[in-house]
Amino acid sequence: MIKQRKMAGRAVLLAGEPGTGKTAIALAISQELGNKVPFCPIVGSEVFSAECKKTSVLMENFRRAIGLRVKEIKEVFEGEVTELTAHEVDSPMSNQGRTISHIIIGLKTQKGVKTLKLDPSIFEPLQKAKVSVGDVIYIESNSGAVKRMGRCDAYRQEYDLEAEDYVPLPKGEVQKKREVIQDVTLHDLDIANARPQAGNDVIAMMNQALRSKRTEITDKLRTEINKVVNRYIEQGTAELVPGVLFIDEAHMLDLECFTYLNKAIESELAPIVILATNRSSCLVRGTEDLISPHGIPKDVLDRLLIIKTTAYSEDEIKTIVGIRARTEGLNVPDASLDVLSKIGVSTSLRYAIQLLTPASVAAEAHGRDFIAEVDIEDTYKLFLDTRRSAAILEGMQPAFA
Ligand SMILES: Nc1ncnc2c1ncn2[C@@H]1O[C@H](COP(=O)(O)OP(=O)(O)O)[C@@H](O)[C@H]1O
Ligand SMILES: [Mg+2]
Repeated sequence: MIKQRKMAGRAVLLAGEPGTGKTAIALAISQELGNKVPFCPIVGSEVFSAECKKTSVLMENFRRAIGLRVKEIKEVFEGEVTELTAHEVDSPMSNQGRTISHIIIGLKTQKGVKTLKLDPSIFEPLQKAKVSVGDVIYIESNSGAVKRMGRCDAYRQEYDLEAEDYVPLPKGEVQKKREVIQDVTLHDLDIANARPQAGNDVIAMMNQALRSKRTEITDKLRTEINKVVNRYIEQGTAELVPGVLFIDEAHMLDLECFTYLNKAIESELAPIVILATNRSSCLVRGTEDLISPHGIPKDVLDRLLIIKTTAYSEDEIKTIVGIRARTEGLNVPDASLDVLSKIGVSTSLRYAIQLLTPASVAAEAHGRDFIAEVDIEDTYKLFLDTRRSAAILEGMQPAFA
């Protein structure tokens, strides 16, 4: 639904005991969406900071989760480099040094050739991209950004082992228009306009539209940015990409935050909000005596699609611990996985996962290259899970009195 853009302005609540995979699901969603869709994870308690108002922390994170895909038509020069010369003159500043006065670049395509005389500032990007004669490059005419596409096909040699990427001689003219796509978030635009700086085209574009210098992200600045963004969307220059704002431990938010959330979810520029909590019924923070399911006020609950997560079965725990072991490069035979998943059932999935590393150290100490059942049993005795640890302290109460 998120991918099909059917989720904008909605909110989901993942509710379930600790260790039932709520955070894991949220991270999996972000992986699945890819890096073009913004994903902003926070923990409920993060909104309480000494420097910022709770609602502005929330607002900032909302804007981190809203993406904007900006399409720009740019003028570029593209072609195979046929000439690359830096013209030097005696530097007027010192008697030995020479400085570059200009750069001459010859570019060739299937249709034409062009010789460009460029400002010395292009020298550094050219060097950085390691451009030499025979490479195919493109230069953005207004920003001077250089991109090396690869070596031209004509230079291909008959070696089997080569690190070069070969690209065909570009079609069309040397000077052409090209569609360039950039992804930014509303928060990127807020920051850039609060502290204007050169370098990013989209941001420069926004700067032009706003024509002002500010030092702080204010509501007024955000409203102005929204106006410009909406205009770009109407013109078809930009497209809104609603991302995901994930608020873990949502019961940590207080009434003021929930009131804000309720309003923000309704707004035109809203991301998909995913909340997670392991609380059943509890006090809504910031109130004297308002007890509500999941510690979330009723009017917010009403908007949420609630998804319950349940404890993993022994088999599922075995699979998850197995995946974890593989990603950590540990050799855990089936019998040991069985021991771990049994421990996982009686303690918690997280505890079982945490035993992997110390168990691998124990295995190594015994000269094994795999984790044996005895390694797990040993570490299980060495490191306590919550229940055993609490029970021990309970038993020691008289000693503390
Ligand atoms: N489906 C899964 N696949 C792989 N690892 C998982 C899966 N579900 C949970 N885990 C792992 O189990 C542990 C507990 O899950 P987590 O998402 O943190 O639970 P919760 O947020 O509900 O308390 C984490 O280490 C997590 O990475
Ligand atoms: Mg969690």
